[in-house]
Amino acid sequence: MEEHSMIIKRRDDNQCFSEPNMANSSRIQNVVPRPGFSALHRLRKKRKGQRVKDPLDDLLLKTLTSQRAMEERFLQMEERRFQRDLDVEERRMQLEQRRFELEREHEFRMFSVFAQMLSILKQSHNGSSSSLAMPRGLDFNQALSEIAGMAGGGGDLQEARAVQPGRPLAERRIDLHGFCNSGEFQRSPYLSARGNIANIFRGSTEEGYKAYHADKYDEDKNPNGIINFGTSENKLCFDLMSKRLTQTDMNLMEPPLLQYPDWKGHMFLREEVARFLTYYCKAPAPLKAENVIVLNGCGSLFSALATVLCDPGEAVLIATPFYGGITQSVFLYGNVKLVYAYLDSKITGTSTRPFQLTVDKLEKALQDARAEGVTVRALILLNPQNPLGDIYSLSELQDYLEFAKRHELHVIVDEIYMLSVFDESATFHSVLGMDRLPDPQRTHVMWGISKDFAVSGIRFGTLYTENQDVANAVASLCYFHGVCGPVQHKVAQLLRDRDWINQVYLRANHARLKAAHTYVTDELKTLGVPFLNRNAGFFVWIDFRKYLRTGTFEEEMLLWRRFLDNKVLLSCGKAFECSEPGWFRIIFADKTHRLQLGMQRIRKVLEEREQEILAEAKEQPCQSDQDGKTDSTDEVIFVSRHQEPTCAGSSNLGDLIGLLQQQMRSSDWLQKNTAEQFAQEKPEIYDVFSKLVGKQ
Ligand SMILES: Cc1ncc(COP(=O)(O)O)c(C=O)c1O
Repeated sequence: MEEHSMIIKRRDDNQCFSEPNMANSSRIQNVVPRPGFSALHRLRKKRKGQRVKDPLDDLLLKTLTSQRAMEERFLQMEERRFQRDLDVEERRMQLEQRRFELEREHEFRMFSVFAQMLSILKQSHNGSSSSLAMPRGLDFNQALSEIAGMAGGGGDLQEARAVQPGRPLAERRIDLHGFCNSGEFQRSPYLSARGNIANIFRGSTEEGYKAYHADKYDEDKNPNGIINFGTSENKLCFDLMSKRLTQTDMNLMEPPLLQYPDWKGHMFLREEVARFLTYYCKAPAPLKAENVIVLNGCGSLFSALATVLCDPGEAVLIATPFYGGITQSVFLYGNVKLVYAYLDSKITGTSTRPFQLTVDKLEKALQDARAEGVTVRALILLNPQNPLGDIYSLSELQDYLEFAKRHELHVIVDEIYMLSVFDESATFHSVLGMDRLPDPQRTHVMWGISKDFAVSGIRFGTLYTENQDVANAVASLCYFHGVCGPVQHKVAQLLRDRDWINQVYLRANHARLKAAHTYVTDELKTLGVPFLNRNAGFFVWIDFRKYLRTGTFEEEMLLWRRFLDNKVLLSCGKAFECSEPGWFRIIFADKTHRLQLGMQRIRKVLEEREQEILAEAKEQPCQSDQDGKTDSTDEVIFVSRHQEPTCAGSSNLGDLIGLLQQQMRSSDWLQKNTAEQFAQEKPEIYDVFSKLVGKQ
């Protein structure tokens, strides 16, 4: 009996022991099934009734004891796990705190660099009246981006895109201006560092392009919409092309067209391209289909070539101004930089026309880049040139190719406008038409149908290279850049229809381009605006410098925006990395009614601007307005006398600080950071910061 009651007591102890422990862990209450508990309960009830010694009690005691031991062990394990979770959570919070501190430090660092930069600028401005004290083209979008920490993890972003040898660092940072809208940018947590760069790296034309698509001009439905003189498209031949591309020979859906093709393109198309290029490039011997690769546009081709010819961080050489899409193409995929050879409007020494590309200029840019340790792998030539409209002579081409050979540079020759030479007085020479290429294994020629056949929506480009390694490497990338089978068929049909191309299409296209060019250039002459008078492409390169009072890129941007506000989209020189502010590109390949309305809107903006400049000049006369300073040549029609910006030194700094103030006020960085914070934490930058945000 005694023994029995002892057992009962122990059983109670068991319970007393277990339950507080169980309660210790709220998780365990839910988790542990408490094995054997109900059996014990039943047994206890039974024993109460019987009060008789049972031989099974011993066994039961042992079972319960081991059950208790197991329970204890289980609870210990659970507690350890719980403790581990707590530790992990604590560590995570510590890391979070550290990251936050690092971010703050980074922001402080960036801001103090920036503050120092500004004070150097101020000092050099105060100490010298020369406008050289003010670095031209300094990019505040970028500076602001860096302050806001968005460039974190992307040293890439700071220097990746362009190498501009021979210029001080501050001057080189002109890149992102016009290429991204960092004012609105917030680093995305969903993207990698390069994803973030791609995210902000909107095309130079992105803002205007977006605005245009949201508010397109339509004669009937939206007569107050935006007229697009910014996108390089031929809008004069849609009628001819849509008619030709819907004829019955175009429609084929045979099984090979619906299957994966050879990545270089179907052989029937590559053969047709080889015949087409042999004919139109006037090749001395038939070009070979095995050297042809087709893919979805020359933009993709630039990416592919940059990627297979250069390693990340290496560079290609290009003369500015140039078609800005190339920057995106070579940088975003291949992480390849651009080295600029700057051309300008002055006619000096070996240059006989404004913005003339010379070997001297290429040589200098290359040597400067090399001196800075940059490896340059290739030279890009655009012929006809976009945005200048230049066509290179045979001897010029020969010189550029010899230069490239001397330095073992690949040459990527973009001839996408080769059939858009609309005046018989001009002759285009294709590199493929040369009797002898200086370095055939390093010469790669591209062409596409976007421009010459007015079908930029179809996405078709082609590469001709004798170098089979390059061809095979590009072909591997063509897996991502293919042209669908039915389109390959259509393009082959188009290219083989030589009669239609020569008798119908090119005749009409050239006549229409010429008429549109004449209309726009006549308008410019009446307005008294200088421009380059060329015979190729869809564009006129226009000198609006006299409408800038201080001659800065910021002012150029303001003028560009003013055009857009007046519902006409143009491209400003900055989008082409032009070294002189004030140049604009107009696309004239458009229907007469749109040209008329667009030019009317341009005229209005320019007239208003003229009045403003007159009024400003009265209020704040510049010391030496220099009418008639601009060089004049046969090539450039300078119908008005040009006024050089002469107050640049003082106004530039004023503009710059004004712009910076404006950007900082609109930046969301200010939502996180106040001048007062700096007052406590970094008093040395409080002063500059508070001035900039207008607190003093
Ligand atoms: C000189 C030049 N190359 C290439 C391109 C892009 O061509 P695609 O439509 O074939 O990508 C353009 C488009 O404006 C261009 O002007």
